[in-house]
Amino acid sequence: MKLLITGSKGQLGNELLTILKNGCAEIGPISDAYKDAEVIGVDVDELDITDTAAVQAFVENERPDVILNCAAMTNVDGCETMFDVAMKVNAIGPRNLAAAATAVGAKLIHVSTDYVFAGNGTTPYCEWEPCAPNTVYGKSKRLGEEYVLMQCARSFVVRTAWLYGYVGNNFVKTMLRLGAERDRLTVVADQRGNPTSANDLAYHMLKLALTDEYGVYHCTNEGECSWCDFARRIMEKSGRACEVAPCTSAEYPSKTPRPAYSSLNNLMLACTVGNEMRPWEDALDMYLKNLEGMNQ
Ligand SMILES: NC(=O)c1ccc[n+]([C@@H]2O[C@H](COP(=O)([O-])OP(=O)(O)OC[C@H]3O[C@@H](n4cnc5c(N)ncnc54)[C@H](OP(=O)(O)O)[C@@H]3O)[C@@H](O)[C@H]2O)c1
Repeated sequence: MKLLITGSKGQLGNELLTILKNGCAEIGPISDAYKDAEVIGVDVDELDITDTAAVQAFVENERPDVILNCAAMTNVDGCETMFDVAMKVNAIGPRNLAAAATAVGAKLIHVSTDYVFAGNGTTPYCEWEPCAPNTVYGKSKRLGEEYVLMQCARSFVVRTAWLYGYVGNNFVKTMLRLGAERDRLTVVADQRGNPTSANDLAYHMLKLALTDEYGVYHCTNEGECSWCDFARRIMEKSGRACEVAPCTSAEYPSKTPRPAYSSLNNLMLACTVGNEMRPWEDALDMYLKNLEGMNQ
């Protein structure tokens, strides 16, 4: 089996590479089908997914069985000001990969986001619920989903949220740094979602890739919380003596409005390959322990 991972230097791309190398994720071992897999990891320097001709040539030359697209423009505020770049990376890039995958008969696993929803829900969003993105990031990711589903019959769109991995920057690492520098922090308590381990997500992507159960999936760690709850657990479990006080989004305005409620329900995972996503607290606790070990 031959796998192509795009955006391989990002949080999720790195996690996929690590799991494939070790044959094991934090949840457990991956299928033996991956034992002798040839894994090609490329990032923007080696393959810019917005370059239609380059993507076509690369995929036709390598002829992977599965393409796992982890490349994206994830800077939500940056997307607002660089509308065209966001559309190129988050919509045209996946479209290019979908067309190239179709040309060689490969499967495509494309990763998307909770930002495709309006973010004003009250119960976790299921896969079939209507999308209504409010941000350029969300709009560009939604268009990417549509292109993928339209242009590649053998595609999976996997939506996730509040992602953290061992390589790269994320909310957990920011809190760890601030928690070491300060006695007190205020963190928004009126936005709720699902903190998600990139390791758990990568494990499920590899599980899906072995099936023909194409379609849209939600894949987040189980349970939901506010950013304030998330920060409090990070401080508590990492032994940071930093008080985390709640504030409202109005008190801490960001350039781009964030969804108030964008929790996802992993319904289709549960209906197909099985939902092994851990409770967010368990995944976070293991991440913090491992990260501490890596930094020693
Ligand atoms: N992070 C989150 O909280 C979150 C939440 C929900 C969904 N997601 C989705 O999950 C997926 C993985 O996210 P992540 O956190 O792993 O992202 P990430 O760490 O930002 O990684 C994305 C990678 O893609 C690369 N890239 C950017 N433009 C490219 C291009 N034109 N061609 C090829 N590669 C390009 C980036 O390179 P540079 O760094 O050089 O730009 C980076 O290495 C994305 O689809 C994202 O939308 C993420």
